[in-house]
Amino acid sequence: MTMRRTVSILIGLGIAAAALFLAGAQGRSAKVHAADDGLALTPPMGWYPWNEFGQEPQNEKLIIEIVEALVSSGLKDAGYAYVGPDEGICFSREASGKLTTNLVRYPGGLRGLGDYIHKKGLKYALYTDAGTLTCSKAMPGTKDHELEDMGQFADWRADYVKIDWCNTQGQDIVKTYTKLHDAQHAAGRPIVHSLCSWGEGAPWNWAAAVGHLWRTTGDICGPGKADWASAMKIVLANEKLYEAAGPGHWNDPDMMIAGMDGLNEAQNRGFFSLWCMMAAPLIAGNDLRRMSKSTIETLTNLEAIAVNQDPLGVQGRVIRKEGQVSLWAGKPLFDGSQAVLVFNESPKIEVVSLKLAELGIDPKTTVYVRDLWQHVTSGPGTSEAGVLSVMVSPNDVNMFRISRSKDFPIPPIIVADSYLISLRAAGSAPQKLSGVITIANKGSSELPLWKVGKGLPGWLSVTVTRTGKSQMFTNTVSTAGLKKGLYHAVVRADNIEPVSGKPMSSLYYDVDLEVPADVRSVSKSISGDGSFSPAFDEN
Ligand code: GLA
Repeated sequence: MTMRRTVSILIGLGIAAAALFLAGAQGRSAKVHAADDGLALTPPMGWYPWNEFGQEPQNEKLIIEIVEALVSSGLKDAGYAYVGPDEGICFSREASGKLTTNLVRYPGGLRGLGDYIHKKGLKYALYTDAGTLTCSKAMPGTKDHELEDMGQFADWRADYVKIDWCNTQGQDIVKTYTKLHDAQHAAGRPIVHSLCSWGEGAPWNWAAAVGHLWRTTGDICGPGKADWASAMKIVLANEKLYEAAGPGHWNDPDMMIAGMDGLNEAQNRGFFSLWCMMAAPLIAGNDLRRMSKSTIETLTNLEAIAVNQDPLGVQGRVIRKEGQVSLWAGKPLFDGSQAVLVFNESPKIEVVSLKLAELGIDPKTTVYVRDLWQHVTSGPGTSEAGVLSVMVSPNDVNMFRISRSKDFPIPPIIVADSYLISLRAAGSAPQKLSGVITIANKGSSELPLWKVGKGLPGWLSVTVTRTGKSQMFTNTVSTAGLKKGLYHAVVRADNIEPVSGKPMSSLYYDVDLEVPADVRSVSKSISGDGSFSPAFDEN
């Protein structure tokens, strides 16, 4: 029987006092990723195959089935976006030095897989290695091919590249990852760089300048073998590095094991809560094609995800440990509330007293408490002693938000219907073609209109309009005067989270235009009032 998990507020009514709700947020490292790419300003969310599958079963069919499951299970709507192969023999190097798709495993080609993923409104992740070969030695690494490989990943339209650290004997880690970062910039496509040196070279000290996330520890498990004890060791190591994390640069304690065989419901909930509290990348590692209802509910709990995806991007930490119960806090959130996690590793029910003062909150403050797993709000209440009493089931967690307000907003969770517009011109007469991308926000607030970046090519214009919490990007292409060929643009849009005023992760999508024959220049006509207006054949 599942024990009821309870947060009881043992406090009476009183007058609210000014509280230092954001205490602890100041004085953190202001390091940002060197590029103004606006990428990963909240921890990346997605799915990677390694934890469940290892190398052998990875192929196009698996990734497509996983993409379908991501969409149908509701994970996509909860914000999971990055998906693609890990080390799964997806490419080799030709004699010319160029990487080429393994068409046996990926018959549609790695570019084809990327287009498929983008059309599903998801982001494309690929894997490589900074050394001569990948870890299994089955695939080429990027050493001495940095420019051409980063160019190839851009051509395959990757949005995220995990760069492993195997077979790098004699290589300087900072110089190597810096070279890869520079090569990616030269390739011109904005790509999230996920450094994977398992903590070697202490990347938390330098990698924010050249990557967006870095593994802090060894592998969380062998393929298909979820290992709770190993995960808990990783938590211990990763927790200590909380000062290094922030928008655009994250500690990565590895892909998640929640939902894999061997973990029970409470462990899934506990694991997920810890990853949310640590502002860790939420890269699911389980088989999404066969998830229990409870696993789906855990992985899509928007109230927990809200803690992870908070725009302030603070990594929570252990502020107190008594026996086998640890109290996690130090995670101020965008609306002035704070996240708290009580993690009970003992086999019995524990009751923990939490003092508001230890969270930097004036004890006399009126507070509301939101249980993020029970979805229940308690309060308002204050107390002479300013103490919350929290009861936690054996081997379970209690995660909640404490706020002066009774509303607990969810920060923006961005979900696209597609990240790729493909248009084809017809004939040699000038045309206007258009394609729409709809961007929904599953968070609480209505966002300001997205601002489209400058520098679009002359043939493309983009306007943004709104319907409720969705915004439509209308992409209009004018073919007048274009020569036969393939045209491509990456559209960038930026936004601000309205409650905190913090910048949101930039939105990027691709627009492809095929022009099968030279198109005449726009024919000019004089309208009745004598003004000049271009004439188009409407499509
Ligand atoms: C390393 C990484 C894993 C996985 C494997 C692939 O061990 O840490 O996450 O990518 O390589 O071989």
